[in-house]
Amino acid sequence: MTREPSLAAMPPFHFLHLTDPHLPPPGGTLRGLDPALGLAAAIADIARRHGPESAAPAGFAVVTGDLVREGEPAGYARLREMLAGLPCPAHLLLGNHDNRAAFRAAFPEAPLDPGGFVQQALDSPAGRCLMLDTHAPGRPEGRLCAARLDWLAARLAEDAGPVLLFLHHPPLPVGMPGMDRAALQDTAAFWDVLAPHRARIRHLFHGHLHRPIAGSWRGIPVSSLRGTAFEVALDAASDAIEVTAQEPPCYSLVRALGQDLVVHTRALPDAT
Ligand SMILES: [Fe+2]
Ligand SMILES: [Fe+2]
Repeated sequence: MTREPSLAAMPPFHFLHLTDPHLPPPGGTLRGLDPALGLAAAIADIARRHGPESAAPAGFAVVTGDLVREGEPAGYARLREMLAGLPCPAHLLLGNHDNRAAFRAAFPEAPLDPGGFVQQALDSPAGRCLMLDTHAPGRPEGRLCAARLDWLAARLAEDAGPVLLFLHHPPLPVGMPGMDRAALQDTAAFWDVLAPHRARIRHLFHGHLHRPIAGSWRGIPVSSLRGTAFEVALDAASDAIEVTAQEPPCYSLVRALGQDLVVHTRALPDAT
Protein backbone atom coordinates (compact mmCIF):
# COMPACT_ATOMS: atom_id res chain seq x y z
CA MET A 1 0.00 0.00 0.00
CA THR A 2 1.49 3.39 -0.96
CA ARG A 3 0.45 7.00 -0.70
CA GLU A 4 0.24 7.51 -4.45
CA PRO A 5 -3.55 7.86 -4.71
CA SER A 6 -3.60 10.70 -2.19
CA LEU A 7 -0.51 12.32 -3.75
CA ALA A 8 -2.37 12.51 -7.06
CA ALA A 9 -4.92 14.85 -5.52
CA MET A 10 -2.27 17.35 -4.40
CA PRO A 11 -0.79 20.31 -6.30
CA PRO A 12 2.77 19.96 -7.64
CA PHE A 13 5.52 20.11 -5.07
CA HIS A 14 8.89 21.59 -5.98
CA PHE A 15 12.32 21.28 -4.45
CA LEU A 16 15.86 22.01 -5.58
CA HIS A 17 18.95 19.89 -6.09
CA LEU A 18 22.32 21.62 -5.92
CA THR A 19 25.62 19.83 -5.70
CA ASP A 20 29.37 20.12 -5.32
CA PRO A 21 29.86 23.80 -4.46
CA HIS A 22 33.47 23.07 -3.32
CA LEU A 23 33.41 26.48 -1.67
CA PRO A 24 36.85 27.78 -0.58
CA PRO A 25 37.36 30.23 2.29
CA PRO A 26 36.87 33.88 1.27
CA GLY A 27 39.42 34.90 -1.38
CA GLY A 28 40.35 31.30 -2.12
CA THR A 29 40.35 29.53 -5.47
CA LEU A 30 40.34 25.92 -6.64
CA ARG A 31 42.43 24.89 -9.64
CA GLY A 32 42.47 28.52 -10.73
CA LEU A 33 38.68 28.79 -10.58
CA ASP A 34 36.44 30.67 -8.15
CA PRO A 35 33.72 28.20 -7.13
CA ALA A 36 31.83 30.92 -5.25
CA LEU A 37 30.70 32.49 -8.53
CA GLY A 38 28.56 29.55 -9.59
CA LEU A 39 27.03 29.09 -6.16
CA ALA A 40 26.23 32.78 -5.83
CA ALA A 41 24.61 32.77 -9.28
CA ALA A 42 22.52 29.73 -8.42
CA ILE A 43 21.30 31.23 -5.15
CA ALA A 44 20.43 34.54 -6.82
CA ASP A 45 18.55 32.77 -9.62
CA ILE A 46 16.67 30.57 -7.16
CA ALA A 47 15.72 33.59 -5.03
CA ARG A 48 14.37 35.29 -8.15
CA ARG A 49 12.46 32.30 -9.55
CA HIS A 50 11.51 29.96 -6.71
CA GLY A 51 10.49 32.06 -3.71
CA PRO A 52 7.22 31.50 -1.80
CA GLU A 53 5.18 33.75 -4.11
CA SER A 54 6.53 32.27 -7.36
CA ALA A 55 4.77 29.87 -9.73
CA ALA A 56 7.16 27.10 -8.68
CA PRO A 57 7.98 27.75 -5.01
CA ALA A 58 10.74 25.51 -3.66
CA GLY A 59 9.88 23.65 -0.47
CA PHE A 60 13.55 23.04 0.26
CA ALA A 61 16.96 22.62 -1.35
CA VAL A 62 19.25 19.62 -1.01
CA VAL A 63 22.99 20.11 -1.54
CA THR A 64 24.51 16.69 -2.20
CA GLY A 65 27.98 17.16 -0.83
CA ASP A 66 31.51 18.39 -1.49
CA LEU A 67 30.25 21.49 0.27
CA VAL A 68 33.65 23.14 0.69
CA ARG A 69 37.06 22.97 -0.97
CA GLU A 70 38.74 20.66 1.54
CA GLY A 71 36.91 20.64 4.86
CA GLU A 72 37.95 24.16 5.88
CA PRO A 73 35.97 25.68 8.81
CA ALA A 74 36.08 29.08 7.08
CA GLY A 75 34.56 27.48 4.00
CA TYR A 76 31.61 26.18 6.00
CA ALA A 77 31.12 29.58 7.65
CA ARG A 78 31.08 31.19 4.21
CA LEU A 79 28.65 28.57 2.94
CA ARG A 80 26.30 29.24 5.82
CA GLU A 81 26.30 32.95 4.98
CA MET A 82 25.68 32.34 1.29
CA LEU A 83 22.88 29.81 1.83
CA ALA A 84 21.01 32.40 3.89
CA GLY A 85 20.14 33.94 0.50
CA LEU A 86 17.96 30.97 -0.44
CA PRO A 87 14.19 31.45 -0.12
CA CYS A 88 13.81 27.97 1.43
CA PRO A 89 15.57 25.67 3.93
CA ALA A 90 18.73 23.92 2.73
CA HIS A 91 19.58 20.34 3.70
CA LEU A 92 23.26 19.55 3.41
CA LEU A 93 24.99 16.22 2.72
CA LEU A 94 28.68 15.42 3.04
CA GLY A 95 30.99 14.46 0.19
CA ASN A 96 34.56 13.22 0.05
CA HIS A 97 36.00 16.76 0.26
CA ASP A 98 34.08 17.53 3.45
CA ASN A 99 35.05 17.20 7.09
CA ARG A 100 32.38 15.89 9.39
CA ALA A 101 33.60 17.67 12.54
CA ALA A 102 34.08 21.02 10.82
CA PHE A 103 30.66 20.71 9.21
CA ARG A 104 29.00 19.92 12.52
CA ALA A 105 30.69 22.90 14.17
CA ALA A 106 29.39 25.28 11.49
CA PHE A 107 25.92 23.72 11.21
CA PRO A 108 25.11 22.52 14.76
CA GLU A 109 21.40 22.32 13.93
CA ALA A 110 21.96 19.76 11.14
CA PRO A 111 20.28 16.46 12.05
CA LEU A 112 22.56 13.52 12.86
CA ASP A 113 21.79 9.84 13.17
CA PRO A 114 22.60 8.10 16.48
CA GLY A 115 26.07 7.21 15.18
CA GLY A 116 26.91 10.87 14.51
CA PHE A 117 26.57 10.53 10.74
CA VAL A 118 24.94 13.38 8.83
CA GLN A 119 21.81 11.46 7.89
CA GLN A 120 18.19 12.49 8.16
CA ALA A 121 14.67 11.53 7.11
CA LEU A 122 12.58 14.43 5.90
CA ASP A 123 8.91 13.84 5.14
CA SER A 124 7.64 15.91 2.22
CA PRO A 125 4.67 16.00 -0.16
CA ALA A 126 6.87 14.19 -2.71
CA GLY A 127 7.64 11.37 -0.31
CA ARG A 128 10.05 10.55 2.48
CA CYS A 129 13.47 12.03 1.70
CA LEU A 130 16.27 9.87 3.07
CA MET A 131 19.57 11.72 3.07
CA LEU A 132 22.67 9.58 3.47
CA ASP A 133 26.22 10.23 4.63
CA THR A 134 28.74 8.45 2.35
CA HIS A 135 31.79 10.37 3.61
CA ALA A 136 34.87 8.25 4.41
CA PRO A 137 37.59 10.42 5.97
CA GLY A 138 40.65 10.77 3.76
CA ARG A 139 39.20 8.70 0.94
CA PRO A 140 37.72 9.76 -2.43
CA GLU A 141 35.29 6.85 -2.65
CA GLY A 142 32.04 6.59 -0.72
CA ARG A 143 31.10 4.17 2.03
CA LEU A 144 27.88 3.09 3.71
CA CYS A 145 28.92 1.07 6.74
CA ALA A 146 26.63 -1.27 8.68
CA ALA A 147 25.65 1.49 11.12
CA ARG A 148 24.55 3.84 8.34
CA LEU A 149 22.70 1.08 6.51
CA ASP A 150 20.99 -0.03 9.72
CA TRP A 151 19.72 3.52 10.12
CA LEU A 152 18.46 3.46 6.51
CA ALA A 153 16.72 0.12 7.00
CA ALA A 154 14.97 1.42 10.12
CA ARG A 155 13.75 4.57 8.34
CA LEU A 156 12.45 2.50 5.42
CA ALA A 157 10.66 0.15 7.81
CA GLU A 158 8.77 2.84 9.69
CA ASP A 159 6.81 4.21 6.72
CA ALA A 160 5.23 2.54 3.68
CA GLY A 161 5.01 5.64 1.44
CA PRO A 162 7.13 6.82 -1.49
CA VAL A 163 10.84 7.44 -0.94
CA LEU A 164 13.45 9.77 -2.45
CA LEU A 165 17.12 8.97 -1.85
CA PHE A 166 19.94 11.53 -1.68
CA LEU A 167 23.65 10.78 -1.40
CA HIS A 168 26.93 12.21 -2.65
CA HIS A 169 28.53 9.18 -4.29
CA PRO A 170 26.82 7.42 -7.21
CA PRO A 171 26.03 3.75 -6.61
CA LEU A 172 26.62 2.80 -10.26
CA PRO A 173 29.60 2.92 -12.65
CA VAL A 174 29.10 5.47 -15.42
CA GLY A 175 31.98 4.62 -17.75
CA MET A 176 34.42 7.30 -16.56
CA PRO A 177 37.28 5.17 -15.14
CA GLY A 178 38.68 7.77 -12.72
CA MET A 179 35.28 8.61 -11.28
CA ASP A 180 34.10 5.00 -11.22
CA ARG A 181 37.00 4.11 -8.92
CA ALA A 182 35.75 6.80 -6.52
CA ALA A 183 32.08 5.79 -6.56
CA LEU A 184 30.11 4.24 -3.69
CA GLN A 185 31.83 1.00 -2.60
CA ASP A 186 29.13 -0.79 -0.62
CA THR A 187 26.59 -1.14 -3.36
CA ALA A 188 25.69 -4.78 -2.68
CA ALA A 189 24.88 -4.11 0.97
CA PHE A 190 23.07 -0.89 -0.01
CA TRP A 191 20.95 -2.81 -2.47
CA ASP A 192 20.15 -5.51 0.07
CA VAL A 193 18.56 -2.80 2.23
CA LEU A 194 16.71 -1.14 -0.64
CA ALA A 195 15.50 -4.18 -2.58
CA PRO A 196 12.45 -5.00 -0.42
CA HIS A 197 11.29 -1.39 -0.90
CA ARG A 198 12.23 -1.05 -4.57
CA ALA A 199 8.68 -0.43 -5.82
CA ARG A 200 8.24 2.75 -3.76
CA ILE A 201 11.66 4.34 -4.33
CA ARG A 202 10.81 7.18 -6.72
CA HIS A 203 14.27 8.55 -7.48
CA LEU A 204 17.89 8.68 -6.39
CA PHE A 205 19.74 12.01 -6.50
CA HIS A 206 23.52 12.11 -6.23
CA GLY A 207 26.50 14.39 -6.77
CA HIS A 208 30.27 13.74 -7.04
CA LEU A 209 30.45 13.17 -10.81
CA HIS A 210 30.23 16.83 -11.81
CA ARG A 211 28.35 15.61 -14.87
CA PRO A 212 24.70 15.95 -15.93
CA ILE A 213 23.35 12.41 -16.08
CA ALA A 214 19.98 10.67 -16.13
CA GLY A 215 19.49 6.92 -16.06
CA SER A 216 18.65 4.15 -13.66
CA TRP A 217 20.34 1.88 -11.16
CA ARG A 218 18.73 -1.55 -10.87
CA GLY A 219 15.52 0.07 -12.06
CA ILE A 220 15.65 3.08 -9.72
CA PRO A 221 15.63 6.39 -11.65
CA VAL A 222 18.86 8.33 -11.04
CA SER A 223 19.99 11.86 -11.85
CA SER A 224 22.88 14.14 -11.17
CA LEU A 225 24.20 17.41 -12.50
CA ARG A 226 27.36 19.35 -13.14
CA GLY A 227 26.95 21.37 -9.97
CA THR A 228 28.01 24.89 -9.21
CA ALA A 229 31.83 24.64 -9.04
CA PHE A 230 33.22 22.98 -12.21
CA GLU A 231 32.69 19.98 -14.46
CA VAL A 232 34.68 16.79 -14.96
CA ALA A 233 35.40 16.06 -18.61
CA LEU A 234 33.45 13.15 -20.11
CA ASP A 235 36.23 10.82 -21.25
CA ALA A 236 35.70 7.08 -21.30
CA ALA A 237 39.31 6.43 -22.29
CA SER A 238 41.12 8.34 -19.57
CA ASP A 239 41.90 7.18 -16.07
CA ALA A 240 42.59 10.77 -15.08
CA ILE A 241 39.97 13.17 -13.74
CA GLU A 242 40.14 16.29 -15.90
CA VAL A 243 38.49 19.33 -14.31
CA THR A 244 37.29 22.07 -16.65
CA ALA A 245 34.92 25.03 -16.61
CA GLN A 246 33.69 25.04 -20.20
CA GLU A 247 30.12 24.20 -19.27
CA PRO A 248 27.97 26.59 -17.21
CA PRO A 249 27.16 26.02 -13.53
CA CYS A 250 23.65 24.72 -12.90
CA TYR A 251 21.06 23.59 -10.40
CA SER A 252 18.00 21.39 -10.74
CA LEU A 253 14.35 22.10 -10.04
CA VAL A 254 12.42 18.95 -9.19
CA ARG A 255 8.67 18.89 -9.77
CA ALA A 256 6.64 16.10 -8.18
CA LEU A 257 3.02 15.64 -9.14
CA GLY A 258 1.08 12.49 -8.30
CA GLN A 259 3.22 9.54 -9.34
CA ASP A 260 5.30 11.67 -11.72
CA LEU A 261 8.57 13.39 -11.06
CA VAL A 262 10.41 15.75 -13.43
CA VAL A 263 13.97 17.01 -12.97
CA HIS A 264 14.63 20.30 -14.76
CA THR A 265 18.21 21.53 -14.91
CA ARG A 266 18.82 25.24 -15.26
CA ALA A 267 22.20 26.37 -16.58
CA LEU A 268 23.70 29.72 -15.52
CA PRO A 269 25.93 30.73 -18.42
CA ASP A 270 26.66 34.23 -17.07
CA ALA A 271 28.00 32.96 -13.75
CA THR A 272 31.73 32.79 -14.55
FE1 LIG B 1 32.85 17.23 -6.15
FE1 LIG C 1 32.96 14.16 -4.55
